[in-house]
Order: sequence, then structure tokens, then C-alpha cells
Amino acid sequence: MDDKTAAATVPAGQQAAYRGGTKLRQHYPTVDYLRRRARGRIPHFAFEYSDGGAGTDGGIRRNWAGLDAVELVPRYGVMPALPPVEITLFGRKYAAPIGIAPMGGPAIVWPGADSYMAVAAQRARVPYTLGTVGGITIEQAATLAPDVLWFQLYRMARNDHWLGFELMRRCEAAGVHVLVMTVDVPVRTVRPREVVVGLGGSKFSPGPRMLYQMLRSPGWLLSLWQRGQPRFANIKNYAGNNASVNDVISFARNEIGGAFTWDEIARFRDKWKKPLVLKGIMHPADAERAIALGIDGVWVSNHGGRQIEALPAPIDVLPAVAAQVGARATVLFDSGVRSGLDVVRAVALGAQAAFAGKAFLWGLGALGGKGPGHVLDLMIDETRASLGQIGAQSPADARKGVIRHPGALAFPEF
Ligand SMILES: Cc1cc2nc3c(=O)[nH]c(=O)nc-3n(C[C@H](O)[C@H](O)[C@H](O)COP(=O)(O)O)c2cc1C
Repeated sequence: MDDKTAAATVPAGQQAAYRGGTKLRQHYPTVDYLRRRARGRIPHFAFEYSDGGAGTDGGIRRNWAGLDAVELVPRYGVMPALPPVEITLFGRKYAAPIGIAPMGGPAIVWPGADSYMAVAAQRARVPYTLGTVGGITIEQAATLAPDVLWFQLYRMARNDHWLGFELMRRCEAAGVHVLVMTVDVPVRTVRPREVVVGLGGSKFSPGPRMLYQMLRSPGWLLSLWQRGQPRFANIKNYAGNNASVNDVISFARNEIGGAFTWDEIARFRDKWKKPLVLKGIMHPADAERAIALGIDGVWVSNHGGRQIEALPAPIDVLPAVAAQVGARATVLFDSGVRSGLDVVRAVALGAQAAFAGKAFLWGLGALGGKGPGHVLDLMIDETRASLGQIGAQSPADARKGVIRHPGALAFPEF
């Protein structure tokens, strides 16, 4: 059956999984193809930034292997066609259980990255999480992604958290819907692949090797020319008038540090009246503590394997955390998601939605501004098709199936 015939046999509104004939889909049918293309298209240092993890990348490999190992037993004779994939998170409707995770410095991978991701998320109607150290301001993001904007906050404790509270106030004024506090960066970590290409230091001073790599990547260079140098847009203004790029970098390094304590989280909870999520939770006891503080969402994540490679794959702790949380809060997931099938695995094991980071960077590296939209198209269609294939009638329905999950971690009484 060719694509046209296939599309004609699928009910209206459910045809997305059959758009296989477009050129982009032909060349880049999965995120892995985008990763391969990105490797050859952008400067080497930019690819290494998008791709590298802590240590030997063992955490990244474990995240992928953990997801790959999850098997879903299908049921047939139930669903005649593709199921709907819309979901509601914190009272808002989204097109699919998929979101863009917060990332600092994505513009290294493709200049203008933050804006492209914001626009793509708004178009697709999925959450876009701007990072504290993202490349556009909260206010710019709010104009690009007014209906789907979330904001991620790092700990900035100096002067009694003045900068954290200031960013929170700006989020409130700009209409950010969800505030995400990242708890899993207690110490600065070393990512060897970044160090080796010259991105490990506290200064950005491209040497001849980096310049050569830029010159060999004309598309990337053109985008740099059009969009300008990446900078910490949300923090820049506090670094002083006429602060250079390196002044802003060292200001950010001095301000940001450590992981929020429970007392600090309680203070933010007190002031932020809209949904509040903790990102980086890996233990049911921490999820319980979060709920006791009135947190609305628990985001299970090991930071995509970028902090320390000894952590379990988040997919392996997800069922225990989800069981602990029950219906008391929303459970979100990331780390290793490269397809809609991975999204379905996470949803089947208890997440309400799965987010991705690196997949969007590879999309940007391969396709520039078109990348994030293509990644979302692929993932949303794959989610719908994977649910349809196992006979699930909705994302939540995937939880009712029989699942083999060899890596699932059991937590002793705590
Ligand atoms: C380049 C890069 C920068 C990141 N920066 C941040 C950040 O500033 N704040 C944060 O909470 N998480 C950050 N993350 C982690 C992501 O939010 C997310 O947890 C992770 O990418 C998910 O794993 P995945 O890349 O395998 O999808 C970053 C990830 C990448 C790849």
C-alpha cells in the first residue's frame, strides 16, 4: 500500500502517521538519522556539546538500553485505527505526551536554537521548557510560545536567592505556566568530550581549531551571522552594563550553584502559586518529600546522563516513583527518549508525559530551524502509531497492558 492509499483508509484527523512520503521523512525517518547528519554538518565542538555525557557516556548508553529493554505486549481486535494522543497536564491541554526539556546553551549546537524550539512547540502544542541558561529571555519565549511555556530554574542562592526570585517574578509577569526547579546538579561535573573540544573552561575563547571547524560548517556560520553569538539571555542584564560574553559567563558561574534544599524549595513553593515541578527526582522517598511540600509535579530524570554515569536509567526507577506518587501529583519523565515508542514506554510505566533534550539538538544540527518541528512531527506520529500497534486507545490506556521491564528497580522500605 503506498502512502496515499494508506492515508485514505485512515479516519480524518488521524492521518499523521502516514505522512511517510515527505522529503524530510524520507531522508530522516527517525531521530537517529538526524543525529548522524548533525555529526557531519555542524562544527565538531557543537556536536560534542549535544552528544556527550559524564565520564565515558555510560549513563547515556544505560538510558538508551533501559528504554530499549522495555517490552509491551499487544492486544488486538480493540482499536480499529490510530488512537488520539492529546493529554492534559496541570489543567492545560497538549497535543501529545511529549515535551522539550530545558537546555542551557542549545545555541552552541545551532545559533537561534531556543527560538526555533519555542516556535515548534507552540505550533505542535506541546510544552516548551526554557532553561535558566537558555539563549532567549523569558519575555521573548512568552511571545513565541505563549500557550506552552514552562521555565526551568537553577539554584542561585547569593543574596538570599534574589536572582531566583527575580526570575520567578518575571515568569509570573510573562505568563509562564509551570516552574521547574532542577534538583540534580549539586556539583559541577566534567564532561570529557566538552573539555577536549574547548568548551570546558570558564571562558569562551575559540582557538584556531574551533574557528576551522566553524569555517567548515557554512550553514551553522550563516546562522551565527544572522542570530548572533549565544549568550545567557535571562541573566545577561544582571551582569552589569557593557558586560562582555565572558563577563556574563563568569557571572552565571558565580551565581548558579548547588542543589536546592527542601527548605529552599518550600520558600519557592510559598511564592509561586502556579504549578511547580521538581526535576531530577530518582527516589520514591524524594518524591514523597516533594509531595509533602505541595509540589505539583515530579520529573524523573538523570539529566540525560550528563551529571554522573553511575545513576540508574530513569526508566528503571519510574514505576516505583509513579507508584509512590499515585494520583497526588503529575509524573514527568526524561533521559534517553529518542522516539515516540520511547514516549509510549515511559507513559506505560507511569509517566504522564516524556520529554527529550538531545533529540531536539540533533534535529537542529541536522536541519537547522526546521529540526525541532521535524523531531516533534516524528515523535508525535510514532507515539500515535506505537499506541495503535499495541492496541491502546489512549496514552493512559498503555498502562493497562502487560509489560516486561527487566531493569525495574525495587526500593526497600524507606
Ligand atoms: C546540552 C544540554 C544542556 C542541558 N541543560 C540543562 C539545564 O540547563 N537545566 C536542566 O534542568 N537540564 C538541562 N539538561 C538536561 C535536560 O533537561 C534533560 O534532562 C536531558 O537532556 C534528557 O535526556 P536526553 O537528552 O537523553 O533526552 C541539558 C541537556 C543537554 C543535552
